[in-house]
Amino acid sequence: MSHFEIRAKDGLARLGRFTTAHGTVKTPLLMPVVHPGKSAITPRDLIDKFGFQMVITNSYIIRSHDRFRAKAIESGVHGLLDFDGPIMTDSGTFQMYFHGLAEGEIDPLEIVEFQKSIGSDIGTILDVFSDPKVGRTKVEQDVAVSLERARLSVPEKGEMMLAGTIQGGIYEDLRESSAKELALMDFDVHPIGGVVPLMEQYRYSEIVRIVLASKKHLPPDRPVHLFGCGHPMLFAQAALLGCDLFDSASYAKFAESGRMLFPTGTMHLDQLEELPCECPICSTTDVKELLKLDKPDRDLSLMSHNLHASAAEMRRVRQAIRDGKLFELAAARSVGHPTLLEAFSTMMRNSEQIVQSDPLGKSASIMYTGPETLHRPEMVTFHSRVIERYPYHTTETVLLVPHLGDRPFADTLPKAVEEIRKRSNERLLLIFVTPSGAIPWELEHVHPAQQCIFPQHFGEIELVVTLQRIHEMLDNLTFKHGFWLTRDTATDKVGPDIQRQYGLERIENLERIEEIPIDDNASWEKRKLHALLAYQWDIDFSKMQDSQKLQFVTSRSTGKIRYVKRNDKILFTLVPTTGLFTPTYEGGLELIQMNLDARYRVAIKNEVSEFVVKGKSALAKFVTHADPLLRAGEEVIVTDEQGSLLGVGRALLNGSEMRAFSRGVAVTTRHSKP
Ligand code: GUN
Ligand code: ZN
Repeated sequence: MSHFEIRAKDGLARLGRFTTAHGTVKTPLLMPVVHPGKSAITPRDLIDKFGFQMVITNSYIIRSHDRFRAKAIESGVHGLLDFDGPIMTDSGTFQMYFHGLAEGEIDPLEIVEFQKSIGSDIGTILDVFSDPKVGRTKVEQDVAVSLERARLSVPEKGEMMLAGTIQGGIYEDLRESSAKELALMDFDVHPIGGVVPLMEQYRYSEIVRIVLASKKHLPPDRPVHLFGCGHPMLFAQAALLGCDLFDSASYAKFAESGRMLFPTGTMHLDQLEELPCECPICSTTDVKELLKLDKPDRDLSLMSHNLHASAAEMRRVRQAIRDGKLFELAAARSVGHPTLLEAFSTMMRNSEQIVQSDPLGKSASIMYTGPETLHRPEMVTFHSRVIERYPYHTTETVLLVPHLGDRPFADTLPKAVEEIRKRSNERLLLIFVTPSGAIPWELEHVHPAQQCIFPQHFGEIELVVTLQRIHEMLDNLTFKHGFWLTRDTATDKVGPDIQRQYGLERIENLERIEEIPIDDNASWEKRKLHALLAYQWDIDFSKMQDSQKLQFVTSRSTGKIRYVKRNDKILFTLVPTTGLFTPTYEGGLELIQMNLDARYRVAIKNEVSEFVVKGKSALAKFVTHADPLLRAGEEVIVTDEQGSLLGVGRALLNGSEMRAFSRGVAVTTRHSKP
């Protein structure tokens, strides 16, 4: 059974709860590495004075020193460290590699047995660390040995949780196959190993590829640990890639050489005139004072600073996940070093895996942080969905209006909106051209269409993406007349190209549009409903019964739809922050009536159906059906095993996660059976 639970997602990042025999911790989390004998700061102080939740120590070191071993055998690793919180132990893999210990120096099964005997909360197998310098053949052999040891270790774990490390060097296919094998074994945590030298050499792009490859085939309910990642500059990006656990020996190693860790990079004390930090150390001393201290005291001060800086960054990461803001944090950190910036770009350009994991229905604004912004999962999801699902493909006239994308479109161009509302979709379509792509008027309020804060001026790099996405949209449309309303905005620059290719006429005002005949029975509300049903649930509006009886309640102040009703019963509410519908219970019935696809149906065990009927959330452990294509954040219906409707709500997890997890919420119920 898994001990992990997801509370929120952002990209591949998970805000989680992980339950060990010595307490539950919040993830992503950082475990300071403590030496069993000469830890300058005690584990208790790491928790109480620095805000950490868990520590990691080394079972090989304990085992090879008589004093530590005797104490650990007598009173457990918790007694040895004088700490009753969660403790993870490593196996000695890194020492084998780093000190070139002889094969056979550590017995792979004995070391697992030893970790269990001293009561470690999470033990680690003795995997084989492949140096990035060795060739592929050697890495293949190392992976084979690691997998064999993994296989033999699992039956020995007993009550202890066990970490099965993924190796495979810089070879993505070896990482993938290694992860696939380990996924089949009963592990509780999966570290990604062998990356320390890559980190030391600033080879972050390779780490991005390694993490993505390793993550691809792991069961989602097991936390992923990035072994040896202790620099706060890397936390946001690594978390965004789906790493849940981190360990840091860096705080001590860097301190010993006079270096200070910051989320923005590393600084040497010798080079500083000021201490650019708000931690208790830096706030109560200065560079001169620090330099006057003798080495042990100075080391201790720098260590303390390094720990404070690391703990604070991890807190920022967790808050950012909750707020849907981890991309901005990772983007900000990526300017800390050009190689990190390159890694960020690598990640964004290989983002399909991240897109699939990113939840829908976000509401946070999207701040432009550079050309990668256009590849953010929210944007990719929105534009690919528009291409796949926008229901209007044929019209007489299409009007393209360039826009920056940060203000309500209707506000900057009320006249065009007024004209379009008077006409049917067969007559006139309105498409906003924004830096992130084409936004049909019917979907203008869907996040992130108007939540993007872009600069006024745009470079060539961005406009390449803009142009490509406009092409995709127009290639999907058939029209007789096309107009491009020229406006003084950045995206107007792609106009000439588009006009030429699609035979659009450039206009400076809306006179030509006003000449288009009006459709007396045009219903702009139905047009939006139709488009939104298609966008959200891939539903064909023509399947709706009694659609002539629909009533629309619009907001007096904004003119936007608020509710869709029939027979005075609300079916759908439009959430202003996401621009998406949430169905009521009746709306849920309506969706079923319209043949709602299996992707949007989550079934739970009959014996717990009453909980959902009472308005409680549907828990993952009771889910009997969830489609692997269901994305987190979707509005779904919850049914019993026979498919009868219990409630409607928002999926917290994606379909695969719902099936894998045995803890936590799968769907947050919004409305339930009356
Ligand atoms: N510590 C740092 N890297 C590694 C690794 O690859 N494996 C193990 N077991 N520990 C590590
Ligand atoms: Zn500080």
